[in-house]
Amino acid sequence: MALNALPWWQSGVIYQIYPRSFQDSNGDGIGDLRGILSRLAYLRWLGVDAIWISPFYPSPMADFGYDVRDYTDVDPIFGDLATFDELVQQAHQHGMHVIIDFVINHTSDRHPWFLDARASRQAPRRQWYIWADARPDGSAPNNWVSLFGGSAWEWDGETGQYYLHSFDPKQPDLNWRNPEVQTAMFDVLRFWLDHGVDGFRIDAAHMIMKDPQLRDNPPNLAGVEVMPKPMGGDYETQLHLYDKDHPDGHAIYAAIRRLLDSYGTEQPRIALGEIHILDWQAWASYYGADLDEIHMPFNLSLLSLPWQAHTIRQAIAALEAVLVPGAWPNNVLGNHDEPRIVSRVGPAQARIAMMLLLTLRGTPTLYYGDEIGMHDGLIPPERVVDPIEKNKPGLGLGRDPERTPMQWDASPHAGFCSPATEPWLPLPDDYPSSNVEVERADPRSLLNLTQRLLALRSSTPALTSGSYQPVEGLPADCFAYLRQSGEQRYLIALNFADREQVLSREEKGQGRIVLSTGLDREETVHLASFHLHPNEGCIIEMIEPAPLDSAELNNDLSAGPM
Ligand code: NOJ
Repeated sequence: MALNALPWWQSGVIYQIYPRSFQDSNGDGIGDLRGILSRLAYLRWLGVDAIWISPFYPSPMADFGYDVRDYTDVDPIFGDLATFDELVQQAHQHGMHVIIDFVINHTSDRHPWFLDARASRQAPRRQWYIWADARPDGSAPNNWVSLFGGSAWEWDGETGQYYLHSFDPKQPDLNWRNPEVQTAMFDVLRFWLDHGVDGFRIDAAHMIMKDPQLRDNPPNLAGVEVMPKPMGGDYETQLHLYDKDHPDGHAIYAAIRRLLDSYGTEQPRIALGEIHILDWQAWASYYGADLDEIHMPFNLSLLSLPWQAHTIRQAIAALEAVLVPGAWPNNVLGNHDEPRIVSRVGPAQARIAMMLLLTLRGTPTLYYGDEIGMHDGLIPPERVVDPIEKNKPGLGLGRDPERTPMQWDASPHAGFCSPATEPWLPLPDDYPSSNVEVERADPRSLLNLTQRLLALRSSTPALTSGSYQPVEGLPADCFAYLRQSGEQRYLIALNFADREQVLSREEKGQGRIVLSTGLDREETVHLASFHLHPNEGCIIEMIEPAPLDSAELNNDLSAGPM
C-alpha cells in the first residue's frame, strides 16, 4: 500500500508535549505555547507528524491543567488564543498536525459551571454535576473511591449534598447524562475545531458515564488487578463495576465521532482516548461497533508491563487479536502519568524500546524527552507538587519525576528557561551531558537513533502500513516480527537481554541490516545463523530469496533455544 493511502493519523507519529515542561519563553520557569512555537523546527527535524499538547486552558492548576476553569481560552501562564492560532498555523506549515486535550470527565471546582451548581440546589447548572444525598448516618452515598485517594464524594456543606469527583475533590465530575452538558461540551469541541485543531486526546474517556443508581462497587476479593498499575490506597480493594466503563458512554463517543467527521474526510479530525481498562475486549469496544467512535483508544499496556520479550509479544498479540478489520492499532511507551522508559528498562534497553515503538504496526506516540533518554527526576520532598504524591506519599505514584523540564543544552536549566529563573520542577544533575544539543552532535546517541528510525519509518511502506507477523520459536529473550507490504519485507529482531542471541536454523534467506540500535552495523546477514549483539535490535530488509508467505517465513526463522 502506498504511504499516502493512509490518513495522517495512521501513517504518522505523534509527539506528546507536556506544555509546562517543554520550553519557557517568558521567564516564569513554566513552559508555554510560544516556547513550543520556538521548537517546531526541532520537531520537524526529528520527523514527527503530529503534536499532542496536554492542557493549556485557564486552570487553578490543582492537577496542572487537568482541572479546567474555562474550556475555550488559554491560561496566561501558557499564552493567549492568538499565540495558539499562530502555533496551529505554523505547525501546519511545518507539515505537522495539532492534537489537544479534551478533559471530558470533570471541570475545575472553580469553573463557573460548578460555582453556579454549588450555589443552591435550584441553581440552573445544579444538574450539570453529580450530586447525591448522604446515607442516613451522614456518610458518602456509596463506596466509590477517587483515583487520587480517599472517597470519590465530597460533602458540600452549603447545599447539604455530596458531589462526585473521580479524581481530586477540586475536579468535580460532569453529569454527561444531562443533555445541557453534552451541548456545552460539544460547543467546546466545535470551538477548537474551528481554530484548526486536528484532533483531541480525550482524558479519562472510559469514566464519563457511571451507574445511574450509584450502586456500591463489589469488593475485589480475588485480588485481581483492576488497573494497569497499582493505584495505592483503597482503589485495588474494589472491582470497578459501577464507577466507570458504563455502556452509555458509547453513544457520546459516537456523537463526538459524527461531529469530527462533519469537518470533512480530506484531512480527518480525530479522537484519541485515554482508556485504562485491562480487559482487551472492553478496551476495544471504544473503537465503536462499526468503527464509529474513537479513532484510537490509546494502547497503554506497554507502559506498565514487565520488560520481557514474551510479555511484550503477548501484549501485542492480544492487541492484534481484538482488532476488527479496519481498527487501527497504536502504541505508547511514555506519558506524563507514568515512569519514564529509561528509568524502567535502563539506557541500553531504551534503544530497543524506541525501535519497538517505531516499528510495530500502528501509530506510535512518543513522549517528549524520551528521544534523548530523559530519566525520572529526583524530586526533593519540598519540591513535590503532584496531588497524587501529596495524597498518597511514598508509594512511588507521584508523577513529578516524569514531568521535569526538557533538556535542550548544557546551559543553566538546560535551555528550558532563563538562567535567572527557577524551573517549576528541578532538572536532573546529568543534563549537561544528556541534552538535545550534545546528542545531536553524537552520531551514536539515542536522539540520532530515534531520528533515523523516524526517517526510515516514514519512507518505508512496510513499516508504516505493512502487515505484522510475529516470528515464533525464538530464544526466550528475543522478540522478532515481520512487516510486509507488497514486495517489501522487513524483519525486526530485538534482543531484550545483555548477552548475544543467535537466531539459527537450517534455512534459506539473506537480509541487509538497514538499522541497528548499535548504529554500527550495515551488513548483509544470513538468516540461517544471525547473531544479535547484547541489547541490540536490528531492522533487516529481506533480500533473498523471493518473498515467502508469512507461515513459511515463520518456520524459516524459528530458532531453537540457545
Ligand atoms: C488522566 C491524565 O492523564 C492525568 O494526568 C490526570 O491527572 C487525570 N486524567 C485527571 O484528569
